[in-house]
Amino acid sequence: QPLAIKETLKIPQSFIDRCASLLDNGFYMTGSGTSYHACLSASYAVSRRLGMDTRAVLSSEFVDAVADLEGKTVVAVSQSGETADTLGAIKHAKSKGAKILGITNTLGSSLTRLSDAYLCTQSGPEIGVAATKTFITQLTALDMLALRLGLRRGALSESAYASDMSALRKLPKLVAHQLEGADRVKTLSMRYAGRKDAFFLGRGINVATAMEGALKLKEISYIHAEGYAAGESKHGPISLVEPGFLCVFIAPKDSTRGKIIGNVMEMKARGAYILSLITQGDRELEDVSDDYVEVPEVEEGIYPMLCTVPLQLFAYYIATIRGLDPDKPRNLAKSVTVL
Ligand code: AGP
Repeated sequence: QPLAIKETLKIPQSFIDRCASLLDNGFYMTGSGTSYHACLSASYAVSRRLGMDTRAVLSSEFVDAVADLEGKTVVAVSQSGETADTLGAIKHAKSKGAKILGITNTLGSSLTRLSDAYLCTQSGPEIGVAATKTFITQLTALDMLALRLGLRRGALSESAYASDMSALRKLPKLVAHQLEGADRVKTLSMRYAGRKDAFFLGRGINVATAMEGALKLKEISYIHAEGYAAGESKHGPISLVEPGFLCVFIAPKDSTRGKIIGNVMEMKARGAYILSLITQGDRELEDVSDDYVEVPEVEEGIYPMLCTVPLQLFAYYIATIRGLDPDKPRNLAKSVTVL
C-alpha cells in the first residue's frame, strides 16, 4: 500500500487540475461497493474543506436517484473500470448531457473509454477479490482532486493547499508504520474470530470508513457486520445490542470525537464490547474501550486512509484464523460485470 500511494501521489498536479476543471459546475460521484465508499468519503471531504455539496450515489441506484444531469459532471470510481452497474450509471448520465470523469486502476478499461477524462490510480494490479490497496489510492486520488478543486474555487489558499498536500505526502510512511503494527491487530483478531455479528460505527467522514470496515469483514470472514453512522444506533440498531456484542468504533481525534464518545457510552451501557480505533495517547477513549488500536495524530482528512489499514488487517486475520482464503471469498468475483 505505501508504494501504491506513493505512485498515485506522483500524478502531476497540472493533470489533476485539468480533471478538477470538469467539476466547477457541480458534480456527482458514483461507484459500487468499496468504490462507493471512496465516493462517500470524498463527498464529506469536499463539504468540509471546500464548503461545497456533492452527492455520492450508488451506481446500481443512480438512474433512479439522480435527475439533474445536464451540464454536470459525474465522477465514476471503479478499480476495474468494468463494473456493469457503474458503466450503466455513466451511460445514463451521458445520455442526459453529463460529462464523465473516470477514476480507475485499469488503463484501457471500458470506464476509460466511456469517460471524457480519466485519472488512473497507480496501485498496480490487484488480484485479491477484496479491494484494499485500490481503496486507499482511490481515497488519495480523490483527495488530490478535491484539494485542487478547492484551490481553483478559492476555498483553499495557496498555503492551505500546500499544507494539505504535504500532509498527504506523508501518507506512505504513515501507512507503512501502521502495517508494522499488524501484530497487535492479529492478537485482537484472535479474540474476535468466533463472533457472529459486529457493528462498525463512525461519524462524519468516518461513516464511510466504518462501512468499508464492515464490508471487508463480512466479505472475507463471513461474519455479519453492519457499518453505519454512530448517531443512528438510537434509531433502531441498538436494540440488537446485548452483553458482549462487538462494536468497532472509528474514533480518531477529529471534529466528531466529542459526539462519538457519547455513542461509545451508549453502547457500553448496554454491555457492548468496545474496540476503538483511536488517536495515539487518547486516554479518555482508551479508558472507555475494552480494546483499542492506535493511529498517529494527523490532519483530519488523513484519518480515513490510516484507519482503513487496521480494519483491513482485522478482516484479513479473522478470515485466516477461521481457515478461509481471504483472496477468494465465496460467491464473489473481482469484477462484477452483470447488472
Ligand atoms: C470490494 O472489496 C468488493 N469486492 C466490491 O465491493 C467492489 O469494490 C465493487 O464490486 C466495485 O468494484 P470496482 O471498483 O471494480 O468497480
